[in-house]
Amino acid sequence: MIVSDWRERADGLDEAYQIEARRARSLLHWDTEPNWRIVETARSKGHLPGRIVRDVHGRWHGWTFFLLHEGALQIGAFSSDSEAATDALVHDVLRSPEAARARRVMLFGFVAAPGLAERLRAEGFTVEPYLYLSARLGGRGADHAGLQTWGPDDVGDAAELLSAAYPGADPMRPFASEGRITEWVEYVRTLVEAEGCGRFLPQTTVTARHQVGRLDGLALVTQLDRDTAHLAQMAVRPEAQGRGLARRLLASARTRARREGCERMTLLVSTGNAPARALYDSLGFTLRAEFLSAARINPRG
Ligand SMILES: CC(C)(COP(=O)(O)OP(=O)(O)OC[C@H]1O[C@@H](n2cnc3c(N)ncnc32)[C@H](O)[C@@H]1OP(=O)(O)O)[C@@H](O)C(=O)NCCC(=O)NCCS
Repeated sequence: MIVSDWRERADGLDEAYQIEARRARSLLHWDTEPNWRIVETARSKGHLPGRIVRDVHGRWHGWTFFLLHEGALQIGAFSSDSEAATDALVHDVLRSPEAARARRVMLFGFVAAPGLAERLRAEGFTVEPYLYLSARLGGRGADHAGLQTWGPDDVGDAAELLSAAYPGADPMRPFASEGRITEWVEYVRTLVEAEGCGRFLPQTTVTARHQVGRLDGLALVTQLDRDTAHLAQMAVRPEAQGRGLARRLLASARTRARREGCERMTLLVSTGNAPARALYDSLGFTLRAEFLSAARINPRG
């Protein structure tokens, strides 16, 4: 196996993007073509490190890319066709100059790579699968009174609500893992301004405010494809939990998504998140695919 920097030799990459886009569309109902165009622009300008693994005959066996952001190396895509290719890529990425400068290394994605979870565990990562669930949006659901629609000034309040609902640091969390409020603000901005997790749908995003104006609940919705809405984030302030607020927010978001012409809603939930899994289960969400989340504190960082 020969691993090379994808900024130096990228023949075959168009086909690799197309394979990933087809896989995401058929299994996740997710149009990822715009994402791959962004990746390709960053790669061709030399801003995005990545690796391709080929055999001695030049045949492709896998690829990945990664980015060092605020001390965290984020592995953005990972694809391989064999354990040998997986091993070669993991070995090379973890010994890259970017990994040497990172405090943490994280991977979150819909990966097709034999042996990846085992290989990452052997390298000291904690690995947790995430479930990608989907539910049909049928009929004319109710839109609950007392709930509001997302407004342009909600970013700061949403970040504060999320920091309360996901308290503290959690190295395994694929977002705001250090728990700093600036991380939460950046995370919310990314959801509403960038398209990595689908195109933000403000009119489908539902909020709940306490009488004093504090944000108590949020169901943030994006669109992954013409007929697919995605619950990109869902949270209720701890003091307001256990009173049916998440159920109402989600029912309202589903009704609004249906009104926008969507036929299904998808979401990602960690296997360890029992309250959220029980909620989605009770609303008819079923398993469509598994994502992999992995993180480790870099021993050299
Ligand atoms: C998951 C979360 C949004 C639920 O909010 P909530 O307002 O407390 O939920 P509801 O009161 O509407 O409960 C709805 C259902 O969720 C499930 N549920 C909620 N809390 C639960 C708990 N502690 N244990 C088990 N199931 C629970 C139950 O199925 C419940 O239905 P029931 O009351 O008929 O039994 C909330 O716990 C939260 O914000 N958690 C932190 C952020 C998070 O994990 N978000 C989800 C990301 S995928």
